[in-house]
Amino acid sequence: MIGQSRRLAAVQTPVIPIVSRWIAETPGTISLGQGIVSYGPPPEAIDAGRRFGSSIDDHRYGPVEGLPALVEALEAKLARENRIRVRPASRLVVSAGGNLAFMNALLAVADPGDDVILPVPYYFNHEMAVVIAGCRAVPVPTDRNCQLDLDAIRRAISTRTRAIVTVSPNNPTGVVYPEAALRAVNGLCREHGVFHIHDEAYEYFTYETTPHFSPGSIDGAEAHTISLYSLSKAYGMASWRIGYMVIPEGLWDAVNKIQDTLLICAPSVSQEVARVAVHVGAAYARSHLAQLDVMRRLIFEALADPSVPCEVPEARGAFYHFIRVHTPMDSLALTERLIREHRVAVIPGSAFGATDGCHLRVSYGALDPRTVVDGVDRLVAGLKHCARP
Ligand SMILES: Cc1ncc(COP(=O)(O)O)c(C=O)c1O
Repeated sequence: MIGQSRRLAAVQTPVIPIVSRWIAETPGTISLGQGIVSYGPPPEAIDAGRRFGSSIDDHRYGPVEGLPALVEALEAKLARENRIRVRPASRLVVSAGGNLAFMNALLAVADPGDDVILPVPYYFNHEMAVVIAGCRAVPVPTDRNCQLDLDAIRRAISTRTRAIVTVSPNNPTGVVYPEAALRAVNGLCREHGVFHIHDEAYEYFTYETTPHFSPGSIDGAEAHTISLYSLSKAYGMASWRIGYMVIPEGLWDAVNKIQDTLLICAPSVSQEVARVAVHVGAAYARSHLAQLDVMRRLIFEALADPSVPCEVPEARGAFYHFIRVHTPMDSLALTERLIREHRVAVIPGSAFGATDGCHLRVSYGALDPRTVVDGVDRLVAGLKHCARP
């Protein structure tokens, strides 16, 4: 029989469509599931999209690494906000979202059979990309608070290791790694000659004066650090598919070959919208933080109540809580029951590699506080009902 490749057979089935189907079959469900924001791009950026197309060049292929005006704007942003000096030791490459930037990075640094270390819980598309690339995902546990366990990471490094991946602020946990932990991981990578791939898709989403730190800014990190960014969350631009990466100059030839083959270049209209969004700046994303923080606290307080059978690690970033439910149930089965019986959707922890116990990701990025209150009431009732051993 003609079938799919063995490599793809080993890739987990995307969980969002499964949860979406259960939601569609259960009218009135409140979704604390998808990792999206409630707002779209800044109006100035949408206007730039409307104006796009008057020049014939707007309809032609652009440079693989991105349109010069966007590259320049992003390099200035990185210098100003992240303290990353791109040139001459590094390169900036605009891609069609952070996910494709991750794939570019992976294919550029790892061969089939190589190991890539992923702290658990991981962002599921990172693990899926590792398997699609024919590499071995090496899951490494985090601690009870979902913070990095540096000894466990150190022990997981072998001669086959090509990269360690970190995400901060983190999806799915909402945890922000302290600067010291990211410096330590970056130092381990340098010591062992492996790449540090660091995803900063949620860089603007930190609460309570929690600082964001970019390991790409560490002195001497240029040669082994790949930093990934996305406009999907920051500027409400998920459908426009724009992200970017900072890579060591020495990887440019490899990334050029990969992106030229997979994408050629990110869509020019999206790059133009992105350029204006970046010009509007970080204040746009941050203007939504106060409301997100209200929901973050509200969910934490409701779920941390001793009467609810779960633990909620402190989450000071992104727009997620990652809870450990006290139940012998499997997280996918619990998710289905929460939707079908209590009309509230979450994402099962198993999709993020958290199979030691029953975990759920609770997301609040796209909702208004009223809906979150209703959703959390349902979640609390559902957990008390379903999770009873
Ligand atoms: C950590 C992380 N990286 C990357 C992405 C995807 O970003 P993009 O839409 O730019 O591909 C997401 C989306 O949820 C994410 O959570």
